[in-house]
Amino acid sequence: MASLASQPEWMIRTVGLQKTYFLGGENRVHALRGVDMGVRRGDYMAIMGPSGSGKSTMLNLIGCLDRPTGGQYFLGGDDVSQMDDDALSAIRGERIGFIFQSYNLIPQLTVLENIQVPLFYQGHDLGKTLHRCRELANLVGLGDRLDHRPNQLSGGQQQRVAIARSLVNDPLIILADEPTGNLDSKTGAEVLDLIDRLNREGKTIVLVTHDDKVAARAHRVIHMKDGVIDREVINRPPPTPSAS
Ligand SMILES: Nc1ncnc2c1ncn2[C@@H]1O[C@H](COP(=O)(O)OP(=O)(O)OP(=O)(O)O)[C@@H](O)[C@H]1O
Ligand SMILES: [Mg+2]
Repeated sequence: MASLASQPEWMIRTVGLQKTYFLGGENRVHALRGVDMGVRRGDYMAIMGPSGSGKSTMLNLIGCLDRPTGGQYFLGGDDVSQMDDDALSAIRGERIGFIFQSYNLIPQLTVLENIQVPLFYQGHDLGKTLHRCRELANLVGLGDRLDHRPNQLSGGQQQRVAIARSLVNDPLIILADEPTGNLDSKTGAEVLDLIDRLNREGKTIVLVTHDDKVAARAHRVIHMKDGVIDREVINRPPPTPSAS
């Protein structure tokens, strides 16, 4: 199984993935109970399911924000289940961009500075990255708002800053947890259009949502229930894998 799981065609592959939260004493929560799942390069997968079914736990493991307590996780063929914290944070910084429901911007920083935050944590020379950060602000339609602070922006604009920030390391994978959860439907649609565009340009997308209309944008949807995948729905054929 391991040799199959580490085939490079899988951008993301989990085998019997488990996550148990230990809360002291005998108190524990089995949030994931053995998830087998694969995402190919360029795919767009939505995760749905009731509250508490394990969606965010799954996304956090995929994003190397947390480690599984059982099973295996291969990212681009590398077994990350056993990596130490430093290796995990390095791989996260190189390969993964995050978008959260609550944007997670730093209120004291400007738009441009918020976009630069991941680079700062990786010790880049920020002066050398200004051009790229301005380009990303333009890409998300905020080129004229570079000096604004988050509280001077609408929710949709704040989420677009978060999208620009998620792209700053040119990650292969974008992970989004309820990215439109705090937005009205029109603004949400604009944010989703941007995510669609990133997928067309080659980014692999995994997005958690409660909203059928949001999930309809993905190539396929996995429905989680009690820490396992209950069923999968294919919305349209997955993209043809590139030759590389
Ligand atoms: N840090 C934690 N410590 C303890 N238990 C946790 C922790 N995070 C999540 N859980 C538990 O794990 C289970 C799955 O939680 P998770 O956040 O993955 O659900 P979810 O599907 O994202 O739900 P929602 O739709 O409400 O966001 C829940 O029972 C939750 O209470
Ligand atoms: Mg959640």
